[in-house]
Amino acid sequence: MQDFVSREKSRLLEDLKSWLRIPSISTLPENAGDCRKAAEWLAARLKKLGFQVNTIETDRHPILWAEGPAVPGAPTVLSYGHYDVQPPDPLNEWVTGPFEPTERNGNLYARGTADDKGQVFCVVSAVEALQANGGLPVNMRFLIEGEEEIGSKGLTKFLKAEPDRVKADAVLVTDVHMVAPGYPSVDTALRGIVHAEIKVRTLKKDLHSGLYGGAAPNAIETLWHLLEQLKPPTGTMRIPGFYDRVAKPSARELKAWKALPVTERGFIKEAGAKALGGEKKFSFLERVWARPTFEVHGIVGGFQGAGAKTVIPAEATAKCSLRLVPKQRAADAAAQLKKAVKKFAPKYAEVSVEILSTADPVETPLEAWPFEVLDKAYREVWKRGIAPIRSGGSIPIVPLLQQRKAPVLLTGIGLPDDGLHAPNEKLTLEQLWKGIPLFARFLQLMGERGGK
Ligand code: BES
Ligand code: MN
Ligand code: MN
Repeated sequence: MQDFVSREKSRLLEDLKSWLRIPSISTLPENAGDCRKAAEWLAARLKKLGFQVNTIETDRHPILWAEGPAVPGAPTVLSYGHYDVQPPDPLNEWVTGPFEPTERNGNLYARGTADDKGQVFCVVSAVEALQANGGLPVNMRFLIEGEEEIGSKGLTKFLKAEPDRVKADAVLVTDVHMVAPGYPSVDTALRGIVHAEIKVRTLKKDLHSGLYGGAAPNAIETLWHLLEQLKPPTGTMRIPGFYDRVAKPSARELKAWKALPVTERGFIKEAGAKALGGEKKFSFLERVWARPTFEVHGIVGGFQGAGAKTVIPAEATAKCSLRLVPKQRAADAAAQLKKAVKKFAPKYAEVSVEILSTADPVETPLEAWPFEVLDKAYREVWKRGIAPIRSGGSIPIVPLLQQRKAPVLLTGIGLPDDGLHAPNEKLTLEQLWKGIPLFARFLQLMGERGGK
């Protein structure tokens, strides 16, 4: 397998770059055509590797369902990922353009390198390596969507209508990262999410801030007081009922986390911060992996142009999300948020909450046999077995990938400092070159186990 990589490296890199050049930003309507192009790019790739590819239409961006050649008696492995990416702004912070993939000091920089095109490409290339070495040892399927970054609505509908698509011996989800370079890991839980927009209106129209200021209610000011009520500086939310079902990580888990090669100082440095924020009683790992939270992503309202304008804004909006941990339910949290906003909203303001998307948290226990296989593959290729970790991120479709009881393996070749959703997102090329033989070996070992 290593031969395949050494031989094909430069061509593979050019291929990946051509995929990364397609700005498949799922949230922006003007990039819908690019999303389709990115799907077509991958469909062509998989067809070339002998896969039967179906393009499934949704209300927005297409899903790809691809089946490899049948291998009678061998296990079935389903690989999930996404070809859509987050918007690249702020553009001026990119050293090279987000859609002009560029190599610098061993990394490939572009939007989507780590999240998630590069990681999908890694598994697809492992399949290519196996095809070049006598064929696939398992019944391989790919399920690749274009709406992950906007909540996976189309795929949710599809998998609810066709639950048997996820019947498999293992579902491989390469949309996460390893805990540190040289330390392969598997996530045992992901946080869920409630994406919301809170809108405040305090006036019929904007007013002169001299003539009315001091007496007329300002929508931005009302909004910030409201947000402060929901989440005071202690970092613990004041949403009634919100913590009722929060499950504590087990003592065993906490102990395992202590042994991980990550430190609070390292985390602060990686974040580019001066100190930690949030709930002081909890370690940084608990804060991002095992505690629910609330973040404001953007505040819209008032005057945003160059220069000055003395105005009292009539309306203000906060784009925000709650992150949820195991045992919480997205539908409950959404209802609790709406109720809390109502409770804290002053009488003089019209306040509304719109829920944009939701995803439940997931638990993916590592008991099933495919985890042993994965561990063995990592030991052989990476010289270290898998560490159980969690991740604070969300992958909305995972609960439905579990609906036929297949074990879901959340593992990836990305690194914590890849800069997902941020400027200068990168993939460390060494990780990619090692990832290809890793996933190839994993599939070989799956085949050898023959479904037992
Ligand atoms: N791949 C990420 C989630 C992730 C990253 C999980 C690293 C674990 C480790 C995914 O693409 C993502 O960003 N999800 C969104 C989901 C949301 C937009 C519905 C998220 O977590 O914000
Ligand atoms: Mn992703
Ligand atoms: Mn993402």
